[in-house]
Amino acid sequence: MAPDLPRLLVTRRLPREVENRLAKAYRADFNADDHQMSEAEILGDAQGKDALLITPMDKCFATGIIAKLPLSVKVIATFSVGHEHVDIAAARERNIAVTNTPDVLTDATADIALLLILGAARGAYWGERMVREDRWNSWSPTAPLGLDVSGKRLGILGMGRIGQAVARRARAFDMELHYHNRRPVAPDLAQGARYHAALDQMLPHCDFLSVNCASTPETRGLVNDSLIARLPDGAIIVNSARGDIIDDDALIAALKSGKLAAAGLDVFRNEPKIDPRYRTLDNVFLLPHLGSATRDTRIAMGMRAADNLDAFFADGNPADLLT
Ligand code: DGY
Repeated sequence: MAPDLPRLLVTRRLPREVENRLAKAYRADFNADDHQMSEAEILGDAQGKDALLITPMDKCFATGIIAKLPLSVKVIATFSVGHEHVDIAAARERNIAVTNTPDVLTDATADIALLLILGAARGAYWGERMVREDRWNSWSPTAPLGLDVSGKRLGILGMGRIGQAVARRARAFDMELHYHNRRPVAPDLAQGARYHAALDQMLPHCDFLSVNCASTPETRGLVNDSLIARLPDGAIIVNSARGDIIDDDALIAALKSGKLAAAGLDVFRNEPKIDPRYRTLDNVFLLPHLGSATRDTRIAMGMRAADNLDAFFADGNPADLLT
């Protein structure tokens, strides 16, 4: 092991191809048993490190750890596009660069958004359970029944890369597209979706609402009672972005009252310790944060994080520097 290679702490197991690459270019400490490291453990293992490669589960990077990191740490690469778990301002204060992994998980995450739309509308959860529990007695013309997706109106909340990829896919289902974003996107990226500068104006047009915005102070809790009240009765909400954008009390009440026909959720506030009430509802299709969880995508995310670290140590200018 060359002593002059930068020293790196990797807080979770990464795909083998990625760890092999990192092991050649860094004096890297890996997390052999893939446990979730505590703040104290990260602080201990960060001593003497030049770089940290972390994940969205390392939530302590949003809550004070950065000020306590040793001065040796110069860069933090997060293995994710989302970066609400890193206090970028605190990192800037300490002159620590922060990078993320955009682009490479766009398609995989948009695929999961469509799976949520289909799973929620067509009753994938109760259908699967009927088969597994041997309660499927006969094909019936009247029960059980789900809802059509084709021809319905889809509102996309957040028209970044993933929102745009959801729009491309939804077009293939003949959905009528609407979106809300801080700014309109170029027409070729909007896929014919109608722009609503005010979210409130879009909501009455949403048979389906797909949450695709980042978690920020402005969006946390955005999907609340009053937003849900403005959706058409029997609408469906799907979330493949971040759990804290949804007010769980409001969503659960609307699922129970029938205001919403169903929901599809891949992300949750405090995941994996989700609000247990979701498990009791038949009209919610639940997945364990699978958005980017394909082998190729996770390798691509790791390679992107490694590219950023390499660029940081080569010329201080990684492609995905967060400011
Ligand atoms: C991300 O990269 O932010 C995703 O949520 C991980 O799937």
